[in-house]
Amino acid sequence: MAGAALAVPFWPPPAAQSATAVDHLFIFLLAICGTVAAGIFITILYFAARYRRRADDEIGSLRPSPLWVELTWTAIPAAIFLFIFGWGARVYFSIYSPQVGALQIYVVGKQWMWEVQHPNGQREINQLHLPVNRQVQLVLTSQDVIHSFFVPAFRVKRDAVPGMYTTVQFHPTKAGEYHLFCAEYCGTEHSRMIGTVTVMEPRDYERWLAGTPRGEPLAATGERLFTKYGCVNCHGNIAPALDGVYMKGIGLADGRVVTADDQYLRESILDPGAKIVGGFPNIMPSFRGVVNEVELQALIEYLKSLGAPAAGYAGEERRPRRPVTRP
Ligand code: CUA
Repeated sequence: MAGAALAVPFWPPPAAQSATAVDHLFIFLLAICGTVAAGIFITILYFAARYRRRADDEIGSLRPSPLWVELTWTAIPAAIFLFIFGWGARVYFSIYSPQVGALQIYVVGKQWMWEVQHPNGQREINQLHLPVNRQVQLVLTSQDVIHSFFVPAFRVKRDAVPGMYTTVQFHPTKAGEYHLFCAEYCGTEHSRMIGTVTVMEPRDYERWLAGTPRGEPLAATGERLFTKYGCVNCHGNIAPALDGVYMKGIGLADGRVVTADDQYLRESILDPGAKIVGGFPNIMPSFRGVVNEVELQALIEYLKSLGAPAAGYAGEERRPRRPVTRP
């Protein structure tokens, strides 16, 4: 289990689909750069020999370069750059744009550790256990300064930024233990903000899930907080009902329509006046400094558990609206 035994290889063996994709792109870039650099140096050497000064009083002449030469050396690199751009964008979006059906895990960076919360209640510090061959999405944030979640074997690196959520996707393809680094200088103990990602065969993962002491599921924690902070007193009453709110289009008082994603829900809890829902007064107090990052994630997980209006939810039973406990 010990992560200390892991060596730090120059080119870590790829252990996720993202790693293979990034490797192919990187090798292609390396090959292009190498070819161009070699071509330039060979040309320099050839020209130096071919056009060397043969007599002491020889004076060179400047000839205008033909249009076709100018066009060719503009068009070919432009085509190569656009090809690289398209390829790179595809790899980028496959890693950084959210995908449906992924196993969602919350990660909070703090000086100087990684705190991981699994949806069904497992919590880990500087450890992340995952099943092999399953799409995983991490939702990252930070409690203090910018950290960066870096797993070289997966070729993914994503900043954990205070005040916002970022996501990163990967699909582990090989069971094993992999290095986890913080890749953004974040203070004195930055170099010790490291950990281990353990990818397990499904059976081992089930055993790990069953054998790991866990707290209540994240959504249940969220539900408790929802009551504790009194959210339950207003929502569904003088404030908007929250059933199925996640990923729903919200009509705002100023006429805009926004999607209630993680970022929107987060903002609405910390800065409720930022986007007022149409038809409701701006009365909600800010919970900035009241709920911490871990509690925020639990609250958002609870809101998600209230059912999303996605196609998959049509006709499925939804949790009943919470009772309003007002006199
Ligand atoms: Cu956290 Cu460097």
